[in-house]
Amino acid sequence: MNGFIFDLDGVIVDTAKYHYLAWKNLADELGVPFTEEDNEHFKGVSRKRCLEILLEMGNISLPQSEFDRLLVEKNEDYLSYIEQMDESEILPDVPKVLNYLRERNIPMALGSASKNARAILKKVNLTEYFQTIVDGTQVTAAKPDPQVFLIAAERLGTDPDACVVFEDALAGIEAANRANMLSIGIGEPETLTDARHVFRDFTEISTAFIESLLDH
Ligand code: BG6
Ligand code: MG
Repeated sequence: MNGFIFDLDGVIVDTAKYHYLAWKNLADELGVPFTEEDNEHFKGVSRKRCLEILLEMGNISLPQSEFDRLLVEKNEDYLSYIEQMDESEILPDVPKVLNYLRERNIPMALGSASKNARAILKKVNLTEYFQTIVDGTQVTAAKPDPQVFLIAAERLGTDPDACVVFEDALAGIEAANRANMLSIGIGEPETLTDARHVFRDFTEISTAFIESLLDH
């Protein structure tokens, strides 16, 4: 394996909880019941598609102008949560893995559905680790479509089947598998059943395991 692709939200930083809070606020406002379990299906999914799903859950149809207004409202709410973000919100042992790969000159990419990805990476001071950043502003088809990861592989100059993807979302694992990449789930094994390997977080990933991927 010689290309490592990382999702952002819920893999590198703990922003998944803020996306959840912002969707929950909007769901309450719309009178749609919304649980953390429902939120699993929002992970990795584009903002627009998330709102469509939320409205489907509540059997609500809205004019386009109102739909667009709610997208802005959700994002402003989300941005208010992440405004104060700094390095302390990097998930445990993520820097250990990034540094390990960087020391070995392994090309790394970010592959995120978020249109806020660049701003967040900057806040937590990790931008320089990635040769390329593919985010929600650059894709025409959102996860589970493999496009975001295929663009990342192409920019890294690596064949898709020599890429590893770290993902916390069901949609992201599906995208990685469809791209013919090695999918590593970060989260609950009971949830991420289609991932090739699953770890609860990076503290469970040993350098020996990363080493074995490099030799793979
Ligand atoms: C993904 C998150 O990374 O980005 C999703 O897992 C989110 O929950 C999506 O909906 C889009 O993010 P944003 O920041 O563009 O609204
Ligand atoms: Mg994610």
